[in-house]
Amino acid sequence: MRTQVAIIGAGPAGLLLAHLLHAQGVDAVVLENRTRDYVEGRVRAGVLEQITVNLMEKLGLNQRMRREGLVHTGTNLAIDGEIFRIDMEELTGGSTVMVYGQQEVMRDLFESAAERGIKIIFEAKDVQPHGVETARPYITWRQEGAEHRLDCDFIAGCDGYHGVARGAIPAHLLKTYERVYPFGWLGILADVPPANHELIYANHERGFALASMRSSTRSRYYVQCPVDENLDDWPDERFWDEVCLRLGPEVAPHVVRGPSFEKSIAPLRSFVSEPMRFGRLFLAGDAAHIVPPTGAKGMNLAVSDVIMLGEAFGDYFDSGSTAGIDHYSARALARVWKAERFSWWFTSITHQFPEMDGFARKMQVAELNYIRGSRAAQVTLAENYVGLPLQ
Ligand code: FAD
Ligand code: DHB
Repeated sequence: MRTQVAIIGAGPAGLLLAHLLHAQGVDAVVLENRTRDYVEGRVRAGVLEQITVNLMEKLGLNQRMRREGLVHTGTNLAIDGEIFRIDMEELTGGSTVMVYGQQEVMRDLFESAAERGIKIIFEAKDVQPHGVETARPYITWRQEGAEHRLDCDFIAGCDGYHGVARGAIPAHLLKTYERVYPFGWLGILADVPPANHELIYANHERGFALASMRSSTRSRYYVQCPVDENLDDWPDERFWDEVCLRLGPEVAPHVVRGPSFEKSIAPLRSFVSEPMRFGRLFLAGDAAHIVPPTGAKGMNLAVSDVIMLGEAFGDYFDSGSTAGIDHYSARALARVWKAERFSWWFTSITHQFPEMDGFARKMQVAELNYIRGSRAAQVTLAENYVGLPLQ
């Protein structure tokens, strides 16, 4: 079997890249080690930047999003129960975000991939890239006991943090940067109306909390918890009590309680692996970088990577120019590091850290009060939250 671009991983990065290449007439095959149901069922990100929304529109994938997605023109911060709003649309000169779950994005991407004849091979086991430093790379995998091989011009490693692609870059050429946080986010989904029509990011002395949503009838809430917390210790009633305490007395009366149908703990990590290219292998999304979820940048970064990579491959196959692929790693990393900074900073001012003393807590409260009172600080937050431009 032969293709132009072999893509490892059918998450948001891999599938959007496949759609971008298809739109440019470039042939691609996606290899995914899980089933479609598994990938579609993973509850993850909820907020799409303007750039992500624009890409879905450009690819003709936005019909359902236009109907069901919620455009948010602002977001809210809370300090010990006192809430203030950041008017993102006004502060950025018109940019907004879209609340539309990663699961919905994946469903739209899979459905139209099938209609457009984009090739995805599910349940591909032992996927291995080979010869990435040569002009003739290829991928091998196993399926139902048989060995398979796919020859290609380029390999895109879109296989997430635990994938195989990053490992194909020799260790001595890779530089990794990492910060592991001593807490996680305990999240629930429940079919109850949201407490507020916009998100609330709450700093509370008991720990961070986030009120989010998937629709006008489905809520998503998170509370900061120790990373080794046992889910069995968090029956729904305990979760609702805790989230109400942390969101504060203004919001708590509006929190509608109901049975959760999803409950999980996500660890928090900052991670970047440089460079994002080795020979004919290109990394995109979580395969190259992780952000803590505060600020909802993870999936959006995967999207900006593949926009750049799609352009680079498009130029190469169109005109033979290698300028785009040669510049890809530096171009993508420049934006990645800015999003890493924003996610790290937003985490640092909203969460309780074990080593924090009274002074450190006062610094957080002062910083949030500064944001509340300063248009300049609000512009900074808003322009990062809606997503920095692609450069
Ligand atoms: P992934 O979505 O990880 O996709 C990689 C794909 O590659 C997967 O389908 C995987 O099955 C496949 N794969 C892996 N290894 C192989 C292999 N060896 N061979 C073939 N296929 C392989 N972001 C937010 O903004 N907000 C959130 O609330 C949020 N919550 C999250 C919760 C969790 C538990 C996790 C893990 C992430 C969360 N994120 C969140 C981050 C966001 O979901 C990711 O940034 C986004 O999914 C990245 O997309 P990706 O395509 O790069 O990687
Ligand atoms: C959601 C997740 C985030 O990380 C975030 O910053 C906002 C919302 C969510 O899952 O709804």
